[in-house]
Amino acid sequence: MTDVVLFEGDGIGPEITKAVVEILEAAGAQIKWHPYMIGQNAYEKLGELIPAESKEAISKYKVALKGPVTTPLGKGFKSVNVQLRLAYDLYTNLRPASSYKGLSRFQNVDIVTVRENTEDLYIGEEHEIEGGYEAIKRITEKGSERIIRYAFEYAKTHGRKKVTAIHKSNILKNSDGLFIKVFDKVAAEYPTIEADKKIVDNMCMQLVMYPEKYDVLVAPNLYGDIISDLIAGLVGGLGLVPGANLGKDVAIFEAVHGSAPDIAGKGVADPIAMLMSACMMLDHIGQGEVGDKIRASIRKVLENKIDVTPDLGGTGTTESITKAIIRNL
Ligand SMILES: NC(=O)c1ccc[n+]([C@@H]2O[C@H](COP(=O)([O-])OP(=O)(O)OC[C@H]3O[C@@H](n4cnc5c(N)ncnc54)[C@H](O)[C@@H]3O)[C@@H](O)[C@H]2O)c1
Repeated sequence: MTDVVLFEGDGIGPEITKAVVEILEAAGAQIKWHPYMIGQNAYEKLGELIPAESKEAISKYKVALKGPVTTPLGKGFKSVNVQLRLAYDLYTNLRPASSYKGLSRFQNVDIVTVRENTEDLYIGEEHEIEGGYEAIKRITEKGSERIIRYAFEYAKTHGRKKVTAIHKSNILKNSDGLFIKVFDKVAAEYPTIEADKKIVDNMCMQLVMYPEKYDVLVAPNLYGDIISDLIAGLVGGLGLVPGANLGKDVAIFEAVHGSAPDIAGKGVADPIAMLMSACMMLDHIGQGEVGDKIRASIRKVLENKIDVTPDLGGTGTTESITKAIIRNL
């Protein structure tokens, strides 16, 4: 049994968390769940976004599966996700996405986005200036080096052929310029892996035109965030794409998507993105075989469009797709 902290989160979080726990149990995962609260629900019930006991649980058990949390737009508290990533120095945000035959808009997509998770505009330093505001973009040599090295190591250990760095160093000559300088330095240590660089706007067009040409992408925080949603769209939407926040000691697994308030409580949320995140967690805790079994079932269900939810063009519900995945394990 492995101890894992479980945060169901806000919006659709509780619905998809219930589905994921059910499927993992049916697949035979050996997990002792430790449920704690986080996000808006925690704030309303306990007066804190990340209660002290939730922090203690993460520090103690080191692995968490997290549902999405709501962050008010343009006002209110600082994003819980950003706070967690900074508190545990979860500097890698890993977001793999691949096509499903007959379901994805684009076939032959198999891209892993490695997003820097602790720097860039997400440090949230905004200042009032005359007539408006300015926001600080932080890019450091240390922060760039560790994420770029992670991307190359990932490529090496997963048999990947190419790493593409995303940047805007034609405009941001110092900050993104540093990212690219570090990329060139690290890339030279991996002569068997092709090193490629793309300016972020061109990258968006390239991904839509020729997604099959891309393999591992490495990007500063903001570009990585945007690009990974774009790639989610190529393979079937936010309901399918998983993610992992990884640091030296702690790992928090969560879907790319948010709390989807527009469909919360309707029973139609797609649990697959969170389920695929749970599969990444199973790899991480040495139960990868259970993860593979679940991934194979997901593929069967999606490629045969069995009970798929409305985000994938179906009429299924969270409950019916959960049952279909369990039946096909
Ligand atoms: N990791 C996180 O916790 C996280 C990530 C992104 C956004 N957020 C937060 O979520 C809230 C809502 O943000 P948003 O609306 O921009 O993004 P969102 O990802 O919640 O939703 C975008 C669109 O995708 C759909 N969608 C998302 N997940 C789905 C799923 N599993 N099944 C079916 N459809 C799904 C939604 O219905 C919506 O139409 C905000 O408060 C935002 O800050 C949290």
